[in-house]
Amino acid sequence: MGKDVIIACDFADKKACLNFLDKFEGKKPFVKIGMELFYAEGPEIVREIKARGHKIFLDLKLHDIPNTVKKSMAVLSRLDVDMCNLHAAGTAAMMTAAIEGLTRADGTRPLLIAVTQLTSTSEEAMHKDMHYAKNAKCAGLDGVVCSPLEAAAVHNACGEGFLTVTPGIRFADGDKGDQSRVTTPAKAKELGSDYIVVGRPITAAADPVEAYERCVREFVG
Ligand code: C5P
Repeated sequence: MGKDVIIACDFADKKACLNFLDKFEGKKPFVKIGMELFYAEGPEIVREIKARGHKIFLDLKLHDIPNTVKKSMAVLSRLDVDMCNLHAAGTAAMMTAAIEGLTRADGTRPLLIAVTQLTSTSEEAMHKDMHYAKNAKCAGLDGVVCSPLEAAAVHNACGEGFLTVTPGIRFADGDKGDQSRVTTPAKAKELGSDYIVVGRPITAAADPVEAYERCVREFVG
């Protein structure tokens, strides 16, 4: 499982997103499609970006009864996304049902990642995150969304192969925006993150391709 930089494509519509991706010309960065873009454009935006050759993390954070999550995950799996997620606060039954729904007839499925706290700001929250991470691991999920500052603890609790997908990334000389605890791509690498999720430091940069390449240089090496 290679380390990679995932660009959070938090755009209002398809036009803005595709204009942004066009700047990358031959390159095909791993992209995250979140609720804003998905709700605006529907599944077609996933098909279109996939057809352009990008890997896709579909960040819809499902949380419902097991049967609903299973059926919804089956729909997302048919979109051929590479990674999707659900809320770690859901039950083990919900997580197991999600995996069943995601698994295709040939046995393959997208990676399934659990979202822990949206921002862990205290010891208590960190403790809860570790509990969520262990539950997710027991249910057969592939990893968690967490802070890079928690990556080592997650790996200790759940094994090196359990993925840590980490937002809250900023360049050393960049704006923090609304993220309270931030980590540079290089620091996230040092802390053992498997994937960094980077939005505005790339999407709002004067030269987004250069900003992406800087992330890759710092994080992947
Ligand atoms: O622009 P920025 O780099 O802050 O974007 C971070 C991305 O990661 C956003 O798409 C946000 O929804 C997502 N995210 C986050 N913190 C979490 C979980 C997800 O920032 N705890």
